[in-house]
Amino acid sequence: MSRVIVVTGAASGIGHAIVERFVKDGDTVVALDVDGPALQAAQQQSWAHAGTRVGAVQADVAQPAAVACAVAQIMQAHGRIDVLVNNAGITGGPQALRLHETSVADFDHVWEVNVRGMFLMCQQCLPVMLAQGSGAIVNIASVAGLVAFPARAAYSVTKGAAVMLTRSLAVDYAALGIRCNAVCPGMIDTPMTHWRLQQPELLAQVVARIPQGIVGRVDDVASAVAFLASAEASYCNGSALVVDGGYSSV
Ligand SMILES: NC(=O)c1ccc[n+]([C@@H]2O[C@H](COP(=O)([O-])OP(=O)(O)OC[C@H]3O[C@@H](n4cnc5c(N)ncnc54)[C@H](O)[C@@H]3O)[C@@H](O)[C@H]2O)c1
Repeated sequence: MSRVIVVTGAASGIGHAIVERFVKDGDTVVALDVDGPALQAAQQQSWAHAGTRVGAVQADVAQPAAVACAVAQIMQAHGRIDVLVNNAGITGGPQALRLHETSVADFDHVWEVNVRGMFLMCQQCLPVMLAQGSGAIVNIASVAGLVAFPARAAYSVTKGAAVMLTRSLAVDYAALGIRCNAVCPGMIDTPMTHWRLQQPELLAQVVARIPQGIVGRVDDVASAVAFLASAEASYCNGSALVVDGGYSSV
C-alpha cells in the first residue's frame, strides 16, 4: 500500500522538491500551500504525470480552522496520514533586521507561520497517527535554529522553536509508534533565497562561510526528508539533521 504523505509549503522551493521525491518513491502525496495559484501551477506543470497520486489542498497553516478543514479533507480523500512534513515557512522579508528594528507585527507573523503553523498541523494530524498506531513527522527547521544568523532574530527564534517542538514530540509519542525528526538546511537555492544568491557579491559572502564552498540544492534537503520519513530511519527520533555543507560546524 502506498503511504499518504502531507507536505506543507509544497508549491515552491524545498516543499516542491519534497513532493517530487515522494512521488518518485511511489507514495501518494497531498501538497498543501497557502498560495492557491502557485499550487495549481505546480500540479499542472510538475506533478500532472503522477495523476491522482498528488492532491492539492489550499490552506494557511497559521489558521486553526483552515488546518482543521484541510486535515478533514485529506482524511475524507485518503483515510490515513503516514507522514507529515512541516515545511511551510517564511523569513519575514529580505531586509536584515536586528531585534530592536523588528516590529511586533513582523515578529508575530513569522512566529504564526513558522511555529504556530507547525503546532496546528501536528495538533490535527497526531490524533490520526495515534489511531493508526504509526506515523512520522519531519519538521523543516534551519541551521538558524542551531546557530544565530546575524540580524535574523525573529526567524532564528522560530527555527530554534521548531527544533524543540521536534524533540518534545519525539519524547511524548515515541512509545505510541510516532517518530518526529527535524531537518536543518543551510543555504539552499530557492525562491526564498534566490534574490541574494543572484547578486555576485552576496553570493561570494555566503559561499565563503560554507566549508564545502557551494550552496545546497533542494534535492539535498528532499533526500534527508525521505530518509527520516522512511523505515530506514526507524531508530531516529528527535534528531536535527543538518544539511548545510558544514556551515554550522565552523
Ligand atoms: N532556502 C533556504 O536556504 C532555507 C534554509 C533553511 C531552512 N529553510 C526552510 O525551508 C522551508 C521552505 O523554504 P523555501 O526556501 O523552499 O521557501 P519558499 O519561499 O520557496 O517556499 C515556501 C512555501 O511555503 C508557502 N507558505 C508560506 N506561508 C504559508 C502558510 N501560512 N501556509 C501554507 N503555506 C505557506 C509559500 O507559499 C511557499 O510555497 C521554510 O520553512 C524555510 O524556513 C529554507
